[in-house]
Amino acid sequence: MAKFRKAFPFSKAWLDDRLAISTLDRVLSTEYWIPKNINFLWAMGMVLAILFGILLISGIFLLMYYKPDTKLAFDSVNYTIMTEVQYGWLWRHMHAVAASVVFLVIYIHMFTGIYYGSYKKGREMIWISGMLLFVTFSAEAFSGYMLPWGQMSYWAGMVITNLFEGFSPHVLGGALNAPGLVEWIRGDYVPGDAFLNRFFALHVLVIPLAILGIIVLHFGSLRIPHVNNQDGEEIDFDAESKKYLAGDTKGAKVIRFKWDFLSKDIFVVGVFMIFYFYLVFYHYEFAMDPVNFDPADGLKTPPHIYPEWYFLWSYEILRPFSKDLGLLAFIFAQMIFFFLPFLDRSPNVAPANRRGIFKFWFWILLIDMIVLTVMGKVPPMGIFTKIGFVAALTFILLWVLLPIITSLEKKLKD
Ligand code: HEM
Repeated sequence: MAKFRKAFPFSKAWLDDRLAISTLDRVLSTEYWIPKNINFLWAMGMVLAILFGILLISGIFLLMYYKPDTKLAFDSVNYTIMTEVQYGWLWRHMHAVAASVVFLVIYIHMFTGIYYGSYKKGREMIWISGMLLFVTFSAEAFSGYMLPWGQMSYWAGMVITNLFEGFSPHVLGGALNAPGLVEWIRGDYVPGDAFLNRFFALHVLVIPLAILGIIVLHFGSLRIPHVNNQDGEEIDFDAESKKYLAGDTKGAKVIRFKWDFLSKDIFVVGVFMIFYFYLVFYHYEFAMDPVNFDPADGLKTPPHIYPEWYFLWSYEILRPFSKDLGLLAFIFAQMIFFFLPFLDRSPNVAPANRRGIFKFWFWILLIDMIVLTVMGKVPPMGIFTKIGFVAALTFILLWVLLPIITSLEKKLKD
C-alpha cells in the first residue's frame, strides 16, 4: 500500500506522493546523459517539438471559427478569421508559417542524422520513427492545405487523390489498378463536401493523435542508444556518468540532460523563435500561395498546379516520367528513406567527411534534392524538363549505388 504523507494540497510533497514528480526530476538530472561533443544541430529535435506545440495551440484557436463546408470554408478563413476575429490574422499567420518552417527544420534534422550516421548501430528505430513522423507531418500539411478551400486546395487535392487510381490497366493485367478507389477516398466524383469534411477530421483529430503517439515512440527509442555525437564516438555512458557524478565534470564526456543540455537547447530555440516571429510578422506570404486566395472553382483549372515547397522534390520525381513510371518513381522516393539504416552497409558511425565516397554521396543527394525542389516549382518547359529528368534519375541512381559504395568503405581506426 502506498504511503501518503500529510502535506498541503498541491505542495511538492503532496504531488510527489501522487505523481512521483521527484522520480522524473531525478532521472532527468542524474540518470539521463547527453554527450558533450554535439553542436547546435542537436537542438533541432527540440525546435520541432516546440513548433508542434505552436501548431496545436494556434490550430485550436483557428478551429473555433473555421467552417468545414465548401460554401462557407473560404470566407470563414479569409474573411471571418482574417478580418473579424481579434488577432485572428495572428493565429493564422502563426499556424501557416509554423507549418512551413517545420519542414525546413525536419529536413535539417534528417540531413544532420544522415551526415553523422545517427541511424546506425542501435539507432535504427530512432530513424524509422522519425520517418513515420515525416510521413504523418506530410499528411497533416496536405490535409490542412485543403481546408481554406481555395483554388490550390481544390486542384492539389484533385491531383494527389488521382494518384490513388494506381497503375494503368495494362500493367500486370490490371492487378495494380484500383477502379473506384479515388471516388471512395473523395466520397464523390470530384472533391466536394464529403472530401472537405473527411480531410477536416483527419487534420484536426486523427493525424495529430497519431503524431503525438509517434513522438512518444521517437523519444522512447532515444533512451537506450542515447543520441549520437559529432565524432560518432561510442561513449560508455555508465563510466562517463560515474566520472561526472564523482566530481570530474571537466574530464567526463557527458553532461546532464537537466539543466546543462536543456539550457543550450533553450538558447537555440530562442534564436530560432526570433527568426520564426520575424517571418510571422513581416514575411508570412512566404507560407501562403497567392493562387489560394481565389475560392475553389471546379470549372477553372489553374495554368500551373504545384504543391507547397516541401513536397516539390518528390513531385518533380513524378513529373518527368510517363504515368506509370512516374508513379513508380514517386512511390520509390516516398519509401526509400525508411530503408537507409539497412542500405548503408558501412561499419562506420562517423561524420560523412571522414567516410570516403559517402561524403560525395551525401552532398550530391542534398544538392540534387535542392535542384528537384527548384525544378518542381517552374513550369515543365524546355530546359527545365531536361534538368528535372536528370535530377530525378540522379536521385534514383544515388540510392541504388548506396549499398555498393558503403560496402566498399574501410573500417575507420578509432
Ligand atoms: C517532426 C517531429 C520530430 C521531432 C519532434 C523530433 C524530435 C527529436 C529529438 C528531441 C531528438 C533528440 C535531440 C536531437 O538530436 O535533436 C531527436 C533525435 C533524432 N531524430 Fe528526430 N524528431 C522529429 C522528426 C524526425 C525525422 C523526420 C527524422 C528522420 C527520419 C528524425 C530522426 C532522428 C534521429 C536519427 C535522431 C538521433 C540523433 C542522434 O542520435 O544524434 N527525427 N529527434
